[in-house]
Amino acid sequence: HAAKPRYTIGFSQCTNGDAWRQAMLAGMKKELSFYPEVNFRIKDAKYSSALQEQQIKEFLREGIDLLIVSANESEPVTPIVEEAYNRGIPVVILDRRTTSKLYTAYVGGNNVEVGQTAGNYVAGLLGQRGQVLEVLGAPGSSPATDRHQGFVQALAAYPQLQLVAQVNSNWERPSVLERLPAVLRAHPEVDLIFAHNDRIALGAYQVCKQLKRANRIKIIGVDGMPGPHGGIQLVQDGILKATLLYPPGGEEAIRMAMRILRKQPYDKENILGTMVIDSTNVQTMKLQTEKLTSQQQDIQRQQQLLRRQRATFASQQTVLYVLAAA
Ligand code: FRU
Repeated sequence: HAAKPRYTIGFSQCTNGDAWRQAMLAGMKKELSFYPEVNFRIKDAKYSSALQEQQIKEFLREGIDLLIVSANESEPVTPIVEEAYNRGIPVVILDRRTTSKLYTAYVGGNNVEVGQTAGNYVAGLLGQRGQVLEVLGAPGSSPATDRHQGFVQALAAYPQLQLVAQVNSNWERPSVLERLPAVLRAHPEVDLIFAHNDRIALGAYQVCKQLKRANRIKIIGVDGMPGPHGGIQLVQDGILKATLLYPPGGEEAIRMAMRILRKQPYDKENILGTMVIDSTNVQTMKLQTEKLTSQQQDIQRQQQLLRRQRATFASQQTVLYVLAAA
């Protein structure tokens, strides 16, 4: 039978340093195990747009058949992604967008919708009145821009609900511990904090605690990751009132890449849904995600077994050839 064509997929990741990105990568690897003919390469830009640009250049020099990219910041990463696309390399944007229409497909959440859903949920939680503070993701990254836009849009429908302050973060907790205290002190009447992910939501909680305001201020986050430090646990522990599920989409990105490489039909926009996780459904979510995790571990063990059996088979074959030749 004809050998399957070999493909090299380059994945330019904005950062690989948190559980959400690790889950994304784990999902990719799980899906990639069905395509042993694929050579998968990842470069981690460690939150640097300059490094990301350089790494995509390296990919182009080394030769890739398809680029998957999560853009650290939209503007600075756009030209090099456009260059890849213009050279005829299919581009799958995953989660963080560029500013350009020049890409083959998008896979990820709709962050305007995430912000809107958060805004409407907040209105319900506060009885449509009160003071809200927003802790944003890194400026210039598309999920931060879009979550903010959706949030403001939704709040606009509730005249008694005021967005009184905004704090930028770099998506990580230390930036919140540093910047939030002064802003909170300047706004003694804040009722709720919407944080753009669960890591910075936890930072916001720690600041509220420090300032003895954790009882009054409700906090909601984004991501809804399973695991001991994930958003689901934070909701279960009552640290967050709610989190908005934001799926990492690793499996979906690889599936999309393979459709494109194999010239099968696909959609340009592939939106992964969001939902509110709060006290009403957190227990179900927890049980479901735990079950999924254990099933994924089973799959991994099966694959290891398969690899070992293949290796044994290969060495037995070698013995047979040697015997036959003798
Ligand atoms: C992970 C993360 C998530 C967030 C997403 C936005 O690196 O910061 O917490 O939802 O990126 O791109």
